[in-house]
Amino acid sequence: MVQKSAHVTIDGHPDTIDLPIYSGTEGQDVIDVGGLTKHGFFTYDPGFVSTAACDSTITYIDGDKGILLHRGYPIEQLAEHSDYLELCYLLIHGELPSAEQKNDYVDIIKHHTMVHEQLRYFFNGFRRAAHPMAIMCGVVGALSAFYHDSLDIEDENHRLITMNRLIAKMPTLAAMSYKHSIGQPFMYPRNDLSYAGNFLYMMFGSPCEDYIDSPVLTRAMDKIFLLHADHEQNASTSTVRLAGSTGANPYACIAAGISALWGPAHGGANEAVLNQLTEIGSEKNIDKYIKRAKDKNDPFRLMGFGHRVYKNYDPRAKVMQETCYEVFDELGVEADPLLKIAQRLEQIALEDEYFVEKKLYPNVDFYSGIILKAMGFPVDMFTVIFATGRTPGWISHWNEMISGPYKIGRPRQLYKGPVKRDYPTR
Ligand code: SDX
Repeated sequence: MVQKSAHVTIDGHPDTIDLPIYSGTEGQDVIDVGGLTKHGFFTYDPGFVSTAACDSTITYIDGDKGILLHRGYPIEQLAEHSDYLELCYLLIHGELPSAEQKNDYVDIIKHHTMVHEQLRYFFNGFRRAAHPMAIMCGVVGALSAFYHDSLDIEDENHRLITMNRLIAKMPTLAAMSYKHSIGQPFMYPRNDLSYAGNFLYMMFGSPCEDYIDSPVLTRAMDKIFLLHADHEQNASTSTVRLAGSTGANPYACIAAGISALWGPAHGGANEAVLNQLTEIGSEKNIDKYIKRAKDKNDPFRLMGFGHRVYKNYDPRAKVMQETCYEVFDELGVEADPLLKIAQRLEQIALEDEYFVEKKLYPNVDFYSGIILKAMGFPVDMFTVIFATGRTPGWISHWNEMISGPYKIGRPRQLYKGPVKRDYPTR
């Protein structure tokens, strides 16, 4: 196929700069701007709005059409027919597992869910009121201290055991961060339960009574993990890739991803949505908040709305909304008043010219918090659950980069500081 090129002419610059254009299997073509440097120019793209930082075969998003594919499979079909551990396998290995491969994988993950007993003492260093994301940043980053046997990132087997350990242990650490906050004993993982069922057990189980597993809540939990599993080059995944490009160990890279996810503009939005719905308090107050969201002089934003890539409905939000109704039916609880506020807010926003013109739709975080609250999770655990669900995405992008040729990520800048000046002689 003829190589396409971009031909850049620059005022005052004698040469036309020819830049190669590459095409992927889906989505926009990209212009390789590496050749600009030798002509004395950098590109300038704060927030990487128009920058493809890498190539990848893992996840594809069409923001205009609201399409999300994991290794080519639409998220709606995966949510209906697959489950979280099967998606983890798919993200890492590139193909769906056979029945035997799936059973083997589930068994491997089950037998890595415990954490080193010494890790329990880490939690004593945190106040009971510590935000569980602060605990997760610290404890996950420290995991490398327990696995000196498998930190050679050039060794494929070391990478594989590390990926399995992280996927297996994140729910255990997440539940431990919750139990620590309420002063209850940690619950050891149970291998007779599913991945999601075991997480709910470690979260809400108690040594004082038998645990009753709810198939509907377990299925909802599995779907919530599945919907958060990966999302292309989002801020936290890009953080994991950048940290990994220095050769840092994968536990440190995932801890970096957890830190980036915590922000309310990213994974912290699910917690922010719940706090915002609580602040709105009643449907009669919605107009006041919509007005603030539209006021350019007001930094207030409607949490759970808008997305850098989706300029249509986030396909995950639709599945999340359906799961919301399933959970409320199962719990037999009168729909949470916050759900009614959320539904009314969504309806008003989707009809409002500001939101329509800026293509601001509900994103994955809009409904997830309402479900998690109904399931009994405290608000400060919402982003911990997002981080747990996103682990296979982070680690599969890390593995994809480390498995092939890569360079250390080192962006440049447009310098606007003082020009050279001499230190004053006194
Ligand atoms: C996630 O990247 C991913 O894939 C992330 C994620 C994943 O799975 O990893 O999908 C998860 O992070 C979802 C997003 C969760 N965050 C929120 O819900 C927080 C609220 N949303 C906004 O902060 C915002 O929409 C962002 C951060 C999500 C996107 O911001 P962008 O891409 O930088 O867009 P922008 O800020 O330039 O907004 C475009 C315009 C602006 O107005 P103008 O300056 O053009 O006049 O839309 C406005 C914004 O002011 N706008 C909003 C708004 N979001 C954008 N106005 C009111 N309320 C909002 N929520």
